[in-house]
Amino acid sequence: MIDTKKENKDFSFSEQNLSLAEYELSKYPKGREGSAIISILWIAQKQNKGWLSPEIIDYVANFLDLSQIRVMEIATFYTMFNLSPVGAYHFQMCGTTPCMLSGSDELKNVLYKEIGEQNSVSKDNLSWVEVECLGACCNAPIIQINDDYYEDLNAVDLKNIIDELRKGKEIKSGSYKDRLTSAPLNKNVKFFTQDEIERISKNRKKPGLEA
Ligand code: FES
Repeated sequence: MIDTKKENKDFSFSEQNLSLAEYELSKYPKGREGSAIISILWIAQKQNKGWLSPEIIDYVANFLDLSQIRVMEIATFYTMFNLSPVGAYHFQMCGTTPCMLSGSDELKNVLYKEIGEQNSVSKDNLSWVEVECLGACCNAPIIQINDDYYEDLNAVDLKNIIDELRKGKEIKSGSYKDRLTSAPLNKNVKFFTQDEIERISKNRKKPGLEA
């Protein structure tokens, strides 16, 4: 088990992160700096390899002049904040209805088999957790790995992704069905050219402007 006291007892923002945190504070009126809490926690989490220890929660509380419980309320509400160590690659698997109906249970089985229990770190430094909707349901099922989305996945794609990461290779983010952003997959869907879009918008009647 990681000794969090030992790990983070001397935590303080690096010079670069301190100026970033001060910039975030400057967006809010005097006396309302606590409203920057999500940004400040995010900066602290990034600096601490992806997770927030109790000592960092204390540091952020002091930094914002808030009580620890106010900081914990935010840190425990959002799944983007991790309260235990994560791997160098942290998988957030969406298990909400559209992703579940599109096969997230299969992805979950792969994660269990390849990485182990949720919220633990494997020997080769991978971790995963099931989260609620990641806001990209149109390309379900989705997994977020660190800062990027991997979409339209099936079990084979996910196993390949994990294998590539284990070999230290780069992996492709976005759709694994060659979807163009979030456009429909149906080949019969018509895409307009720029000229066609301009012609349509030029000829469109503008409501309320007619004499
Ligand atoms: S349900 Fe999975 S991204 Fe929305």
